[in-house]
Amino acid sequence: MPILFDEERCVWALQGSVSTYGLGVDVEGCLRHLYHGASLPRIEDLPAIDPPSPPQTFESLGGPEVRYEYPAWGGMFYGEPCLKATFSDGVRDAQLVYEGHRVSDGAAPELAVDLRDTHYPLRVSLHYRLFEEQDIVERYAVLKNEGEDPIMLEDVLTAAWYVPQGCGYLTHLAGRFAGETQVYREGISPGKKVLESRRGVTSHHANPWFALDRGNATEDTGEVWFGALAWSGNWKIAVDHDAHGHVQVSGGINDFDFSWRLDGGGEFTTPTFVGGHTREGFGGASRNLHRYVLDHLLPSKGPLPVLYNSWEATYFDINEEEQGKMAEKAASLGVELFVVDDGWFGERHDDRRGLGDWRVNRETFSNGLKPFIEKVRSLGMDFGLWVEPEMVNPDSDLYREHPDWIYRFPTRPNTESRNQLVLNLAKVEVRNHLFGVLSGLLSEHDISFIKWDMNRPFSEPGWPQAPRDRQREVWVRHVWGVYELLERLHKRHPRVAFETCSGGGGRVDLGMFRFADQAWVSDNTDPYDRLFIQEGFSIAYPARTMMCWVADPGKWVRGREAPITYRFHSSMMGSLGIGVNLTEWSEKEMGEAREMVEKYKEVRDVIQEGDQYRLLSPRAGDTTAVQYVSRDRSRSLLFVLRSSHRFADPVPTIYLRGLKPDCIYRTTAEVGKVSGAALMRRGTKVSLDGELSSTMVEITEE
Ligand code: DGJ
Repeated sequence: MPILFDEERCVWALQGSVSTYGLGVDVEGCLRHLYHGASLPRIEDLPAIDPPSPPQTFESLGGPEVRYEYPAWGGMFYGEPCLKATFSDGVRDAQLVYEGHRVSDGAAPELAVDLRDTHYPLRVSLHYRLFEEQDIVERYAVLKNEGEDPIMLEDVLTAAWYVPQGCGYLTHLAGRFAGETQVYREGISPGKKVLESRRGVTSHHANPWFALDRGNATEDTGEVWFGALAWSGNWKIAVDHDAHGHVQVSGGINDFDFSWRLDGGGEFTTPTFVGGHTREGFGGASRNLHRYVLDHLLPSKGPLPVLYNSWEATYFDINEEEQGKMAEKAASLGVELFVVDDGWFGERHDDRRGLGDWRVNRETFSNGLKPFIEKVRSLGMDFGLWVEPEMVNPDSDLYREHPDWIYRFPTRPNTESRNQLVLNLAKVEVRNHLFGVLSGLLSEHDISFIKWDMNRPFSEPGWPQAPRDRQREVWVRHVWGVYELLERLHKRHPRVAFETCSGGGGRVDLGMFRFADQAWVSDNTDPYDRLFIQEGFSIAYPARTMMCWVADPGKWVRGREAPITYRFHSSMMGSLGIGVNLTEWSEKEMGEAREMVEKYKEVRDVIQEGDQYRLLSPRAGDTTAVQYVSRDRSRSLLFVLRSSHRFADPVPTIYLRGLKPDCIYRTTAEVGKVSGAALMRRGTKVSLDGELSSTMVEITEE
């Protein structure tokens, strides 16, 4: 059992393959963090718990240095709490002490430590699930009111993580619409850095992932502590750094505008927050997270189909005949899934009307969707559809029938964004309505894929029909509503796969990846801009989940022309899709695309399920190189893309990773055979000529 317990000291050690996570109970009964780092196989080697310091000086402990596993606001605690509660008599001070623990052995061994308040009937169970092979600990907390009077929760984060003193370099992902998941790294000074969303959705502006290091970690080397939150609404990761160099990272549901009434007998379960440690740099951190997502989180396994999506080809201007022609062309390229995007339903001919009316538009598909789906199926492809269930246009039958189904404050105007308002998924009747229409659509049609979009953040999040002390629960209830719908749909229609989308990559997180196999990464489909977005995405999420379309040049985000091979290579680094207007492609382009699709299918298992190595970052120069290695290390692929270069500048030598040093490989970049050791130590050369040039090298064990 990889979870060890030392009864005498009351400490636990969670033993991963090369890391240890240690925690224990102090003399006052408080649960304290002891260690997170390289393996300590003997539980006796865990550091001793610092004794509580006497609280009589201005230097009293009470921040990140005390390292409570689940700090509650109470007593002399001044750091970022995981819990802040008001009890029914008005006391706002929580004191959690150890009560007992359980260890269970499931798919992932789990330790649950029960804490309870010293006076009030509040129990907090902290769960730690260990994913040994990936050295990842998944944490969540369950709060239970074991009394009768309600307890008001004002802050319920999932977990606090700690790094050794002096690990003050923070790497995180931030961005914007059409420029999501950009990588930032900084040395943090004393104070608090908060990464968060207050938009009701994960957001384009920050992604719930972090890494900390000592300032010496590289892509391949150095100790890195990292974590990612499984929450698709308002989230928060607070990095609290004191002047002694102690760092605490706390995260979970954002406490901004949050409160929750925990009635007697009620439970509140936080989302999960996974954390890990590696000595193999940022690349090692990514590979551990990728394997965790691929092996333990995603709803399905195996290669994802090559898809076609009509959005950039036709926007709202959908007509059956043209879609049919594109379907024929797509099938001739080897596409396996044909997806009709926005514009197939209600009166949806632009973004001003129809959202919420999930019935097939008879002007667009005169005999309904069935004949069109049959055509797609007869061409040998599966069929997929776009929906945006959480939204409504005021100009829709749904809104006219149920104007009270949206979030709103009665005395304020409802701000429209993209001419739409957000439906209140806290209401059971709204969720049931949505389940009914979506499930009906899936029952009546042969649909295998749903792209679930969400095109505007929240505003005026009022729920006037609810009791006053429940109204702020909407932030959480909405996300639970989305998860509930996805879960019910999965159960009823297990064959249907989902893609998460929110105006591009506004809802990409581990919470959604429990239901969606893939994410639409960005509305920016420019193949060069994408390298930056994809690099950041790949820091936290595996290539299988990263949906990348080959797009036409000159689409609305930017007008850069790029060769078709470059566009394909940029998109083949994730799950491949095609988003061009195929009726406008020449025979030559179709021929090139056919070959690329065929090649992608041959190698996609390595890309989607293998280990990824970021060899040359687009942030560091004009050449980007990304390598994928099959898990048995017998096959590998190398993508090299060059954006621009000065006359006679050579392509840098590329040092491969992850191969077996003693094995002999053939590579399409070199004549003859070469050992893994040579490819990794003396490197390999590729020749690339001209701006926006690219190549894909195959490396196969003899
Ligand atoms: C935003 C998505 O990111 C696009 O791909 C497309 O589906 C549009 N919404 C449709 O309205």
